[in-house]
Amino acid sequence: MKIIMLGAPGAGKGTQAKMIAAKYSIPHISTGDIFRANIKEGTELGQKAKEYMDKGLLVPDELVVDLIMDRFQQDDAKNGYVLDGFPRTIPQAEALDKALAAAGEAVDFAINVEVPDENIVNRMSGRRACVGCGATYHVVYNAPKVEGVCDTCGEKLILRDDDKPETVLNRLSVYHEQTQPLIDYYTEKGIEKEVDGTQDMNKVFDDIVAILG
Ligand code: AP5
Ligand code: MG
Ligand code: ZN
Repeated sequence: MKIIMLGAPGAGKGTQAKMIAAKYSIPHISTGDIFRANIKEGTELGQKAKEYMDKGLLVPDELVVDLIMDRFQQDDAKNGYVLDGFPRTIPQAEALDKALAAAGEAVDFAINVEVPDENIVNRMSGRRACVGCGATYHVVYNAPKVEGVCDTCGEKLILRDDDKPETVLNRLSVYHEQTQPLIDYYTEKGIEKEVDGTQDMNKVFDDIVAILG
């Protein structure tokens, strides 16, 4: 099964993608997570990506497409995946379709997690991410057992650099300009499905499972 998660920054793509990956035994592939891992390791790719990410801008398509094509070559991606944060532009979606078509494959579902802009800034300022394993929490909606400490691996939880309110507003406008057109793109292909992302995260997941079957 090949699934794409669509939605504004902070809509809960990562939260839901992790749950989908666990239930359907497919890898969760997040371009944002891959870039953050590269930044942490100080790679050249990470240095390039950071310049854009810190401003709330998209990393150039070529960098992202190469990276994702590489990732698809890994063994665990043979039986499908849930893509979180890719594609994010029409050229990225076209590159994905082209690569899949060459192998006689196609995306099965594009799940659009709908959350109005008003809710987003609030969610982002409360988000905490683990520096060790990448797990995501929210100080109110999904608090760790011990404040500031990851339940899973015990490492420190931090506020992401790009979750400052002014950067979040930039990311939202970039989303509306460059990523929202993908909703029409996948609607035309007949695979776009909407879920109400303002509900409790377990209810959102139930709605997604009802779509995926
Ligand atoms: P990326 O890491 O993908 O960030 P994003 O799209 O902005 O999305 P987020 O990860 O911020 O939000 P999310 O939807 O995953 O929400 P989450 O589940 O954490 O990308 C970062 C940057 O990398 C981009 O800005 C860009 O520069 C670059 N990049 C990445 N991919 C790229 C690409 N393809 N092309 C170009 N550039 C690219 O949830 C948010 C918070 O809300 C959490 O605290 C969570 O606990 C909470 N929450 C989740 N669900 C609920 C709920 N139902 N109710 C209440 N709270 C909830
Ligand atoms: Mg995410
Ligand atoms: Zn952790």
